[in-house]
Amino acid sequence: MILSNFIANQTVHEKYGGVVPELASRAHMQNIVPVVDVALKEAGVELQDVDAIAFTQAPGLIGSLLVGGQFAKSLSMALNKPLIAVHHMQAHVLANLIDEPRPSFPFLCLTVSGGHTQIVLCEAPNKMKVIGETIDDAAGEAFDKSAKLLGLPYPGGPLIDKYAKEGNATRFRFPEPQIPGLDFSFSGLKTSILYFLQNAGTSLVYKEEFRATDEERKTFIENNLADICASVQHRIVTILLNKLKKAASETGIKDICLAGGVSANSGLRSAFEEAGKKHKWNTYVPAFQYCTDNAGMIAITGYYKFLDGDFSDLSVQSTARAEW
Ligand code: KG4
Ligand code: ZN
Repeated sequence: MILSNFIANQTVHEKYGGVVPELASRAHMQNIVPVVDVALKEAGVELQDVDAIAFTQAPGLIGSLLVGGQFAKSLSMALNKPLIAVHHMQAHVLANLIDEPRPSFPFLCLTVSGGHTQIVLCEAPNKMKVIGETIDDAAGEAFDKSAKLLGLPYPGGPLIDKYAKEGNATRFRFPEPQIPGLDFSFSGLKTSILYFLQNAGTSLVYKEEFRATDEERKTFIENNLADICASVQHRIVTILLNKLKKAASETGIKDICLAGGVSANSGLRSAFEEAGKKHKWNTYVPAFQYCTDNAGMIAITGYYKFLDGDFSDLSVQSTARAEW
């Protein structure tokens, strides 16, 4: 059971249109002690009562990972409690095990975040295999970059979701990439949105003669924002679901989960439930607070690693990139 899942948001990045790594690690340094204090208070436990210290070891922004890693090591050393290094992407998947109903093993998980897009085959909490992933941008990046092209602030994913609710998803037909197997690609979509906007909706491919003025482009976006957002979201969702259906039919697995920040998207959630009904899947989506990055998912992964006695020593290194 998760006793506390406190999150300190960093609004400092908003005016830069994306996360600034140096500012992120500074904010981490400032926040980490108060955040741990609040978490202990919310949970009603003393530091001495915890059984182990789990922390995110990889992947991510190295400055932020180092702050968390060093803090976790210090706590582990001071309290003489085991240290557990957690992989961020494994944690997103295991967020599905936090609350009832839980999927049975083996299950498939579509993990969609700002940095990753993966289909994971999960045989046990500590036994997973990535069977498909993006060859370029992540799904969250596709949302955020499209939003940026539309002049929306960072992170744009939730805003596209909001405007899409009022729009016609089939009005603009953005192309679906033809990528073999279970892999994904989103960079082509971003390019066609760029051209589409440069041409104020006239064409999906670049044609100099259709190039609109800045004013025409702005007016086009203003007058059609909901339909553009709905059409972009529709395409991202169909790219994701078509590969997930392929993975389900190839593996014959019926327990299927979503995870990661983009699983908060209402279009993805409803299309996923619909596909589940049609294909007789048992579908699982974590509660909203366990979709975007959170402490609860690191705790549940720490718990399963604890049961397996999978501990780290103080020499464990934080890394920005990590296969698993
Ligand atoms: O998992 P996450 O919190 O952080 C990473 O590990 O990257 O995912 C963040 C991503 C961002 O790209 C954000 O725009 C996207 O999740 N996101 C959404 C929604 N909520 C968050 N994308 C679309 N619709 C949403 N409602
Ligand atoms: Zn994440």
